[in-house]
Amino acid sequence: MLLALHRRLIRPAAYPVSSLFSFNHHLSLRRMSNTKTIAVLDESELQDGQMKEVAFEDGKVLLSKLGDKIHATSAFCTHYGAPLAKGVLTADGRVVCPWHGGLSPLLGNHYPRASASAQAISVRLVPRYTPVSSDVVIEDAPAPTALHSFKAHVADGKIHVTANAANTTKANMSRQPKLLASGTESSGRGVVIIGGGSGTFHAVESLREHGYSAPITVLSKETHTPIDRTKLSKALIVDPAKIEWRNAADLKIKYGTNLRLGVEVTGVDLKQKFVTIDGRDTLPYDKLIIAPGGTPRRLPIEGANLDNVFTFRAAKEGKRAVVIGSSFISMELVAAMSKRKLASIDVIGMEEVPFQNILGKEIGAALQKYHESQGVKFHMQSKIDKIVAAENSTLANGVVVTGETLPADFVIMGVGVAPATEFLKGSGLEIEKDGGIKVNEYLRVKSGPDTQNVYAIGLSKDTGDVAIYPQHTGGEVRIEHWNVAGNHGRAVGSTISGKEQPFVKVPVFWSAQGQQLRYCGVGHQYDRIIVKGSPEDLKFVAYYVKNDKIVAVASMQNDPVVSKASELLRLGLMPTPQEVEAGKDLLTIDIATSAALAKVE
Ligand SMILES: Cc1cc2nc3c(=O)[nH]c(=O)nc-3n(C[C@H](O)[C@H](O)[C@H](O)COP(=O)(O)OP(=O)(O)OC[C@H]3O[C@@H](n4cnc5c(N)ncnc54)[C@H](O)[C@@H]3O)c2cc1C
Ligand code: FES
Repeated sequence: MLLALHRRLIRPAAYPVSSLFSFNHHLSLRRMSNTKTIAVLDESELQDGQMKEVAFEDGKVLLSKLGDKIHATSAFCTHYGAPLAKGVLTADGRVVCPWHGGLSPLLGNHYPRASASAQAISVRLVPRYTPVSSDVVIEDAPAPTALHSFKAHVADGKIHVTANAANTTKANMSRQPKLLASGTESSGRGVVIIGGGSGTFHAVESLREHGYSAPITVLSKETHTPIDRTKLSKALIVDPAKIEWRNAADLKIKYGTNLRLGVEVTGVDLKQKFVTIDGRDTLPYDKLIIAPGGTPRRLPIEGANLDNVFTFRAAKEGKRAVVIGSSFISMELVAAMSKRKLASIDVIGMEEVPFQNILGKEIGAALQKYHESQGVKFHMQSKIDKIVAAENSTLANGVVVTGETLPADFVIMGVGVAPATEFLKGSGLEIEKDGGIKVNEYLRVKSGPDTQNVYAIGLSKDTGDVAIYPQHTGGEVRIEHWNVAGNHGRAVGSTISGKEQPFVKVPVFWSAQGQQLRYCGVGHQYDRIIVKGSPEDLKFVAYYVKNDKIVAVASMQNDPVVSKASELLRLGLMPTPQEVEAGKDLLTIDIATSAALAKVE
């Protein structure tokens, strides 16, 4: 729904000349001259398996000790700047961000291995870390850029770090990507990517980082470059220039991308290997990446097409909002709107409590109570009859719910999305009933006339992503999170560049519901939930159990439990439900010291 909202509200963007990611020559020169060596900590204060944030002039550095080796890197996650020292360290050199599961490898790029039950996969794409270099190639999504690596050595019982002081500040936490190819002198058909979202942005990055030198063409219906879509519902930001991850100039010049915005792919000929754009032009490709995300659903009810259904721009003081749907995106909007002193916010949901399917009744009830404390009124287990307009008006002014009319100045319909794969009908590719596409572990499509050169990646919130991929724990899933789309893009970029990379990640997502909610794993259709802490105070950890195994973990105000849980799930080291019930604390399980190395490598 928000996607449609977004498309409707956003006009073609003026791209800023400067961006967070643009190179600045003068700044670089100044930074070069500011390299210093400083004693930052007594050696005895950093133990094997520990991380510590230390001051470095006006900035900060993260120290991590693995065995007898000390590593120094940027202290902040390049996604939203979380303090990495509060995250999770593994003995093989991974730092997992405490907030949204972004991964920073200390020892070169890692690819998570599959759990013990599956095919073992553990790939290092670059040589082992040497303290001088910045040889970390990629981090996992949602981290959009790499960290700086600094030199560290021990002398006179003190840890010394050599760093350019400017690179230790939060403002400069991101390291410019090392692109092994720019695409500037490329020829041939290259890669065509359909879509301009999270999956696309990470795929472009990964292709060039892995040395793919042929042309890359991005075809997107949106009129702006890939944005941080997750912020739309949390911060009600509708200006894409404020949330773009890469601007058009960078994508075109630095990444050598042919960026075609505001165009729609209307068909694909998989035999002849070309796409049709806007029903007219054709564009040939060598490799095709299908990343169209989802199309918001509309309830098939009377009034669903009235003009102010979907508009959240109207969320102004004094207005009355009716929100249809009570899952993540709609409830994030509700949380954001309730800070804007609206006259009323009514939420209509089908379940007994919001979030019931994903988080369970107890957590859902606690979150409902929180939203009620902010003035939100819930109409759960309710059926919508219709949306009504004033006489001779195309604007909705009410929603009729089981006979009662809820007054509305605008209506938001948050009832999920469906994979936006309509344009593939007739291409020979098998589209599943719900619009998804089955892929193998390399995200190559499983059906159609060309299963070698066509990839499907990415997701769409609430109902599922485009790619239905084999999970490393067994079964096939379609997951609908930002990180999954991004990591799909990274994996495909690597594979197309010649370094085949299977996709084996534990999905992570987050949401803002009064407090930050974190979630990892695949917990749908759980058998039972073990809840620790106090959901009423929005301070808890919930363990989702299926077939007597913990398959997912959610938390509020308990960082970095979910980051730790995602690593334990990945490594097959998650305790049993019985152990957790008996009081086992995930944070006490050692995966960081050299004693744990054999378990994690
Ligand atoms: C408001 C909102 C909040 C969210 N919050 C979170 C969150 O907090 N955490 C989380 O994990 N996930 C969140 N999600 C989900 C997350 O944003 C998606 O999973 C992610 O964006 C999927 O990335 P994608 O690249 O597959 O597709 P998208 O980001 O949806 O991008 C799809 C792109 O394809 C283009 N396109 C579609 N069809 C065509 C066509 N035929 N021709 C050309 N272009 C086409 C679209 O214009 C768009 O540019 C949120 C989603 C929304 C909408
Ligand atoms: S702040 Fe680190 S992953 Fe989001």
